[in-house]
Amino acid sequence: MRIGILTAGGDAPGLNAAIRAAGELALRDGHEVIGVQNGWAGLAHEFTASALQDKDLRGIISQGGTVLGTERYDLDNPVGGRDRVLESIGTNLDALIAIGGDGTQRISSWLADRGAPVVGVPKTLDNDLLATDYCIGFDTAISIVAESLDRLYTTAASHHRVMVVETMGRSTGWVAALGGLAGGADLVVVPEFPMTMSEIIEHVNHRRSNGLMFSIIAIAEGVHLSTIGGTEATQLSTEGIGGVRLATRGVGNFLANKLEEMAGFEVRTTVLGHLQRGGAPTAYDRIWATRVGAGAYQAVIDGKFGTIPVVRNNEVVLAPLSEVAGGQRKLPRDIYELCSIFF
Ligand code: F6P
Repeated sequence: MRIGILTAGGDAPGLNAAIRAAGELALRDGHEVIGVQNGWAGLAHEFTASALQDKDLRGIISQGGTVLGTERYDLDNPVGGRDRVLESIGTNLDALIAIGGDGTQRISSWLADRGAPVVGVPKTLDNDLLATDYCIGFDTAISIVAESLDRLYTTAASHHRVMVVETMGRSTGWVAALGGLAGGADLVVVPEFPMTMSEIIEHVNHRRSNGLMFSIIAIAEGVHLSTIGGTEATQLSTEGIGGVRLATRGVGNFLANKLEEMAGFEVRTTVLGHLQRGGAPTAYDRIWATRVGAGAYQAVIDGKFGTIPVVRNNEVVLAPLSEVAGGQRKLPRDIYELCSIFF
């Protein structure tokens, strides 16, 4: 078989581990492994791809990013991209393993519905794919958030300041909440459980009245500005396929300015941004990315197209792609409440 592998959407630490696992298993069994370059772009124009050999896959498990390259490529603008991808898969490949987040898996699901031999692999450091407990990149991201909070703690305490730390999380609060939990955040602000400015100020004041003169607030980039006294219209930048580049929207800085204006606290902001996506994956990400990558190869061999290996109860199982493509998995109340014990 000619098995293509691509990575689409934003990169995430652990992608190379998944490519390596699927690729090595396929080579071992005598298949041809085709590395499609730069996500859907590598199929939507000319077929941009090359055969991967064992030497291309060795030593990459520890590397962040993706050896295949990736792009946020919009197949619907201009229209016709999906059909070109469908045609290219038919001409050039016997199967395709598409590693990506919800946008990628929506395309994979659309292609599979039209008969394309596609299997997905779950990736997003936002950790908000439906149907899976694990997404490639999330563990590394929260480890970086936790380490950053550890570092900010000492300077916050020394200066008696409020530190606002903006994390990734386009639509959900997984990274802020679990990174915040691991790093001992004094408050976590996430889209799923909105807080008003008065509640945030009251919380910092309450800590001060208990002798805790500093506070570290982790806020997810996707928090709606309207909940903390802003309006979306003043802050939006509409670049890119996702419509809005949230790092330029600046919810962390917005919150910091409000805290200074309304309560007179001395506040500093850290936007963790792409530091959360760069560098080597954690051992956990390497292992689970390897397991879901191997699961994708097995699904291809078994002819189980239109599926995606997901993690449930510590096991890799196959779910229909349509299940993952259907929305976002929100941060559950019990996890938020666990975080809030320490607020
Ligand atoms: O969707 C994953 C993610 O890392 C989001 O958390 C973030 O908003 C976005 O990608 C950033 O994308 P880009 O790298 O295109 O700026």
